[in-house]
Amino acid sequence: MQRRRFLQSSLTGLLASQALPFSLSLHAAEGPINTRPIPSSGEALPIVGMGTSRTFDADSSEDSLSNLTAVMQAFFDGGGRLLDSSPMYGQAESRVGDVLSRIPDHPKPFAATKVWTEGRDAGISQMEESARRMGVDKFDLMQIHNLVDWRTHLKTLRDWKEQGKVRYIGITTSHQRYHEEVEAIMKHEPIDFVQFSYNIDNRAAEKRLLPLAGDKGIATLINRPYQRGALFRRVRDKELPPVAKDLGCDSWGQFFLKFIAGHPAVTCLIPASSRPHHMADNVGANFGPLPDERQRAQMLADFEAA
Ligand SMILES: NC(=O)c1ccc[n+]([C@@H]2O[C@H](COP(=O)([O-])OP(=O)(O)OC[C@H]3O[C@@H](n4cnc5c(N)ncnc54)[C@H](OP(=O)(O)O)[C@@H]3O)[C@@H](O)[C@H]2O)c1
Repeated sequence: MQRRRFLQSSLTGLLASQALPFSLSLHAAEGPINTRPIPSSGEALPIVGMGTSRTFDADSSEDSLSNLTAVMQAFFDGGGRLLDSSPMYGQAESRVGDVLSRIPDHPKPFAATKVWTEGRDAGISQMEESARRMGVDKFDLMQIHNLVDWRTHLKTLRDWKEQGKVRYIGITTSHQRYHEEVEAIMKHEPIDFVQFSYNIDNRAAEKRLLPLAGDKGIATLINRPYQRGALFRRVRDKELPPVAKDLGCDSWGQFFLKFIAGHPAVTCLIPASSRPHHMADNVGANFGPLPDERQRAQMLADFEAA
């Protein structure tokens, strides 16, 4: 309760001032951040990243920018670093760029976006445009969105990685019907990251993709961790079960994120939110214990009984 009160009062102040310096981290007193290494390099990533689909596809009015700035600030204050976007998400890449330029001295984000078009030249132009829109010199991670023309873009991305124009490369999907093709790419192509959906109510990735990522040393980015918000509707008005307390979860959101983060092959999960207090809630899962196998089984049983 104490932490929640602190977060709420801090966020109220943040919304009023829009200028909370990073050094006043909301979570500074809560111990080390939960990180996982990127297998291909050993670089540590905080376990909670941020998605931008729909939430950052907003207009550039002052109200909208000021709200999204507070979302981003809450993300950074909770130790978040990885930002995931795509040219598929309307204005999202531009809003990320706008908001970053409004936060003085923000920590360096781990900037990830996607290429989502056909053809080599169109892919290159799109990736260059994304860098301009998000205001990054060099992407940390470039992913091929939904496997669109993946053979063409993978060749470009391998060249770019060799030339130092991108740090990591990967592929994404959010549809189970593509899992076989994703699996084949993971087996045969040199990629650093794979992104797919996984959450307490959609565990298809446990069968093959997560174990394969673990075996091959491929980092995993988990999309739709809240099943686009549907998980919250399942537990509306339900009390958190006792295991949540053992894991330091203040909310169902943290319960859902920690369930995912407890899987040993998960590197980073990317919930999206348009609300600062939801983002502050999400980055809470960067702290405190993560569940072991026995606790994850208990969480699953509790969720199914809810
Ligand atoms: N093929 C692909 O590459 C692919 C496909 C799908 C998704 N993605 C990536 O994955 C990201 C995440 O997936 P998603 O955006 O589809 O869905 P999601 O993160 O599972 O769910 C987002 C929804 O959860 C709500 N929410 C977030 N935090 C909350 C909290 N603490 N308490 C209550 N509600 C909360 C949000 O509403 P509020 O705005 O009200 O907080 C929003 O409606 C995307 O943004 C995108 O970056 C990639």
